[in-house]
Amino acid sequence: MARILTGIQSSNIPHLGNILGAVVPAIELSRQAGNSSIYFIADLHSLTSIKDAEFIRESRYAVAATWLAFGLDTDRNTLFQQSHVPEVCELSWYLSCFMSYHRLQLAHSFKDKSAAGADVNTGLFTYPILMAADILMYDTDFVPVGKDQKQHVEYTRDLAEKINHHYQKELFVVPHEKIDESVMIIPGVDGRKMSKSYNNFINIFLPEKELKKVVMSVVTDSTPLEDPKNPDTDNVFALYRLMATAEQTKDLREKYLAGGFGYGHAKTALFELILDRFRNEREAYARYMGDRGLLDSELNKGADKARAIATPVLNRVRSAMGF
Ligand code: ADP
Ligand code: TRP
Repeated sequence: MARILTGIQSSNIPHLGNILGAVVPAIELSRQAGNSSIYFIADLHSLTSIKDAEFIRESRYAVAATWLAFGLDTDRNTLFQQSHVPEVCELSWYLSCFMSYHRLQLAHSFKDKSAAGADVNTGLFTYPILMAADILMYDTDFVPVGKDQKQHVEYTRDLAEKINHHYQKELFVVPHEKIDESVMIIPGVDGRKMSKSYNNFINIFLPEKELKKVVMSVVTDSTPLEDPKNPDTDNVFALYRLMATAEQTKDLREKYLAGGFGYGHAKTALFELILDRFRNEREAYARYMGDRGLLDSELNKGADKARAIATPVLNRVRSAMGF
């Protein structure tokens, strides 16, 4: 069976964009593929941008709790934290000795982040090599990622082919990215792509009162309450339709077009929809976050399963390279 693997950095509590754009489709893909997929929390990667130990710890738990709350079956799949298998750093070293420095300089994500004035540390620069190690360490066939990560998977594939060719052995499985074109870009409260970096995200796990405040902050135009409104240019409607049934969407569209329905009403409808749609997940998330022992035991279970796959791969590589 083809192996699917993906990772999410633990750099905050996953927001609605991460959930609808990455978590939900990945769980669905794994179900369709008969499970046996690998999901991990890229906590080592998050150190490139976050230096607060407590924040790293909390974000790691938050990402784990999100996967679990959205129904990832950890008996049939593997959920682990990257730092539980630190041998990935060893593999990353081997790979780095085959990676062209010049090509690494051309990585879009690195160029974008350094152009945006981020802290340009060496970890940020070598980030794609650690990501390649994540993928190759587990004999991965497919890597579901967003478009922004496509180049990193291409680097990984090229490294695998180059090293296999050099040693004249199938040391690595050659992986392919899986980009789901149907996954939409989720807009944030200001209409731009929802992102941590824009601070325009909706954290669906907030307590009701705080969640309502965030939903009420969605930016709208200033059409008066009594006038008809255009649903197709409005951020509240754009968010609503992502989660609503066809019937609910049609209903809200009619209200917009009829007039006498203000943006305040629309935001209340959006808030209620979020509560309704994610009732179970909100409860489950709170339950997991309140039981760190349970999260730890899930992650330890995942680490054992991950290591069982990684060890033979790493031994194969060590031996071929003369270690
Ligand atoms: P952020 O932009 O908030 O830093 P990340 O880059 O850490 O988010 O993304 C983690 C995962 O969530 C990736 O798979 C990414 O494609 C997905 N994702 C992030 N933001 C969105 C969005 N607004 N719409 C759809 N998917 C998203
Ligand atoms: N770079 C990915 C992101 O920021 C996270 C990641 C790290 C990853 N290692 C990976 C994703 C391996 C897929 C496979 O979204």
